[in-house]
Amino acid sequence: MKFFIDTANLEQIKEAQDLGVLDGVTTNPSLMAKEGIKGEENIKKHYQTICEIVEGDVSAEVISTDYEGMIKEGEELAALHPQITIKIPMIKDGIKAIKYFSEKGYKTNCTLVFSVGQALLAAKAGATYVSPFIGRLDDISTDGIELIAQIVEMYNYYGYGTQVLAASIRHTQHIVKCAEVGADVITAPLNAIMGLLKHPLTDSGLEKFLADYHKLNG
Ligand code: G3P
Repeated sequence: MKFFIDTANLEQIKEAQDLGVLDGVTTNPSLMAKEGIKGEENIKKHYQTICEIVEGDVSAEVISTDYEGMIKEGEELAALHPQITIKIPMIKDGIKAIKYFSEKGYKTNCTLVFSVGQALLAAKAGATYVSPFIGRLDDISTDGIELIAQIVEMYNYYGYGTQVLAASIRHTQHIVKCAEVGADVITAPLNAIMGLLKHPLTDSGLEKFLADYHKLNG
């Protein structure tokens, strides 16, 4: 399972990259705004900086909601760096744009996916990644992990090449559950990734090993 970090914060991206397990980055307009990145040129520069920090795919989201606008914006984003994946919302013109980009050989990430039917459309359009938002489904008392499991099963049944990128991950247990149901990729905040490290028995076990060593060796 690939690990993407879901942020536009450069320090957090560097920290995840330093850990050695990072496969890519996802951003969205809200995450860019959170970092105070505004203006077309600054936004483009920020994407390029992210691409220089990491080795894998970097999702950059279009703002347009019409087909022509998405094509123009997506081509401009893709021209910034070979690692850019064009992130496109699950709307009618978005599906048409994904089809266009997949035929042209561009990488795409279909975002704001909340149902198996939407994931089926994204795969048929040739999306590289589909992003079901599990945390936002959990927020409305719907099982986000169950949706990941259903999409994985459906894609496997038909042999679709679209990778299931579990997004809107809120905590460490979401990552573990995504791994159990076969998600291809998770994108998560840094604290959820770092949470995988933690176990009290690791801490107490290490403390005892070091204490025993120092008893004899000073
Ligand atoms: O990748 C999509 C993700 O950023 C949405 O997360 O926490 O805003 O639902 P959240």
